[in-house]
Amino acid sequence: MIQNNPALIAAIRDRFAHVDSCPFQGERIFFENAGGALTLKSVVETSAFYAAIPDNPGRINPAGQGTQNVINKAKDDLAVFMNASTGQFFAGESGTELLFRLIRTACLAAPKGAKVIGSSIEHPATRSAARRWAEIAGLDYVNVPHNDETGLVTVEDYAALMTPDVAVATILHASPVTGMGMDVAAISAATRAVAPNCMIIVDGIQHAAHGQVDLDAYTVDGYVISPYKVFSRHGYGIAWISDRLSVTSHDMLIDAPATGWEFGTRDAGSYATVSDVVAYFDWLGGEVSNETDPRKRIEAAGRAIHAYETHLTNTAINGLGNLPGLRDMEHVTILAGADNPAREGLVSVVVNGKASEDVVETLNQQGIRTHTRKADHYSGNVLTPLGLTDCIRISFCHYNTEQEIARLLAAIKVLGDDG
Ligand SMILES: Cc1ncc(COP(=O)(O)O)c(C=O)c1O
Repeated sequence: MIQNNPALIAAIRDRFAHVDSCPFQGERIFFENAGGALTLKSVVETSAFYAAIPDNPGRINPAGQGTQNVINKAKDDLAVFMNASTGQFFAGESGTELLFRLIRTACLAAPKGAKVIGSSIEHPATRSAARRWAEIAGLDYVNVPHNDETGLVTVEDYAALMTPDVAVATILHASPVTGMGMDVAAISAATRAVAPNCMIIVDGIQHAAHGQVDLDAYTVDGYVISPYKVFSRHGYGIAWISDRLSVTSHDMLIDAPATGWEFGTRDAGSYATVSDVVAYFDWLGGEVSNETDPRKRIEAAGRAIHAYETHLTNTAINGLGNLPGLRDMEHVTILAGADNPAREGLVSVVVNGKASEDVVETLNQQGIRTHTRKADHYSGNVLTPLGLTDCIRISFCHYNTEQEIARLLAAIKVLGDDG
């Protein structure tokens, strides 16, 4: 357990850069984890080391072989981290770019007249890709409406619209606007029950830092994460694809190996930082359990993170000591319900009568970093049906503390006093 274990929380915080101060601002509390999580100190060191190496991975010399081994190890580490006994991992420009590439490939391989299914809860990275490539490939797009009250789409919602001619399905694992996690395994199983050969592509970008990923259990064909949202750094995304998607006709160099998906010279440093992330989860798993098996330690870490983040979001919602929680503040509205069990480390709120941008700025001035989500092309799908033009996203991670939440609650409480 991370909760009530100050020594462990201190040890966790010590592993991250800029945990309580920002080089541009000074002292600050970081509740903008859905915009990009804190970076492991090990990732910073590793990045500097590999940035200075001029050799191309794979060349027959000690540096070329050394960096290739680093890439191979990162892929092995990812297979443990995400529990993938088949398929392959590769890096691309970003999570968005990889989702577009996977969805484009799946749509172009689908039979004419087939369908693509996805949900209105999704981030535009999958929605835009699916709609665009469905149209180009002559496929019909089927939208599964999400539930505005719960901020979720369920297996029943998907099942109601599934037909045997669905060739491509997209699923969002967790929403960066409502904070709710979807049941990917159930949605995937229900999809396959009706259309067994459907290509299923999952956006795991918001989920990955908050719990566990279990690709063997999901039986999907693609799963994408953005490492800067899982304690690594910006500049690349990671995709896993199934053996089936690997061999599907895709963009590649003429005469290159048929299952290759990587484009151009690899950045060994980005892969090396993935191994740092997996090593961190492994360390944490060892702190919260007696497991010796690497996958079991990662699962233990995931459970501990989920439990502690639930404690943190409950603290923000229900209050701490004498401080009222967000649910008790009359001037605050919580999106997707105060008692939503699907919540993953994130609470979005509106302060009645105040523009979210102004609230975020007021909090910033007090050294509390949150973020405004506007009803634009990123978040309009969630906010517009609720009649909202914006909201304040407060996103936690397992290195945050109750004391930090107390500071947040005190700052938001005051906003109700001045009209
Ligand atoms: C669910 C989800 N999908 C896609 C993205 C876009 O990711 P990226 O900017 O890394 O491409 C984000 C970013 O926060 C996200 O939360």
